[in-house]
Amino acid sequence: MTEFLCIGHRGACGHAPENTLEAFELAITMGCPWVELDVYCVEGELIVIHDHKLERTTNGEGLVMDASLDYLRSLDAGNQQRIPTLNEVIECVNHRAIINIELKGPNTALAVNLLLNSFLKAGWQTDEFLISSFNHKELALADSQYRRGVLFYKVRQDYFDTTMKLNAYSINLDVKIVDQKTVEQAHERGLKVYVYTVNKLEEMLRMKSLGVDGIFTNYPDIFPE
Ligand code: G3P
Ligand code: MG
Repeated sequence: MTEFLCIGHRGACGHAPENTLEAFELAITMGCPWVELDVYCVEGELIVIHDHKLERTTNGEGLVMDASLDYLRSLDAGNQQRIPTLNEVIECVNHRAIINIELKGPNTALAVNLLLNSFLKAGWQTDEFLISSFNHKELALADSQYRRGVLFYKVRQDYFDTTMKLNAYSINLDVKIVDQKTVEQAHERGLKVYVYTVNKLEEMLRMKSLGVDGIFTNYPDIFPE
């Protein structure tokens, strides 16, 4: 039986403020073997937030990349949680789940390499991480000792040229574009297929029947056994 992974999307963000320590803790409590998060790099520090604007998920205003680190860290990201640093999330997860770090902001790959390399020195393993991005140029800068996931949001003829060039571990597809043929072609090439964002049980079961290897979900509590 092949594995069908439940990946807590931005933590268990259907039940706790997204990309906060509370959301990651909850995802792990709900049984997620993996969690996913999004990073930006501000003043050399990797912070965990999805949008390039602050308004939707915090009590702040403006663009993440225009803000100071002090300002970002002063904000409430929901339930009086701070925007966490990637360092804080890795320490909080503490080997209890694999962490998919999505490079969302500009110029994040080198900072992620540095941080993860410091965790390796502290006893973490390379396969406790997957680095992914829609920005394939940025992803190419991710240290090749870590697994890479290539994200796509629309159908592309060059899926597998891109994954091969990046020596990827997985192809990460929008639920709207995944189909049986792509799953089979990916598997023939030794790639895992992870699909985002799958929030309904029927869709989860459909993904399982297509043979995908895992889904990103905001609702790990409804993931089928
Ligand atoms: O990595 C899967 C998924 O998170 C990609 O889309 O916009 O939710 O970061 P988004
Ligand atoms: Mg993401």
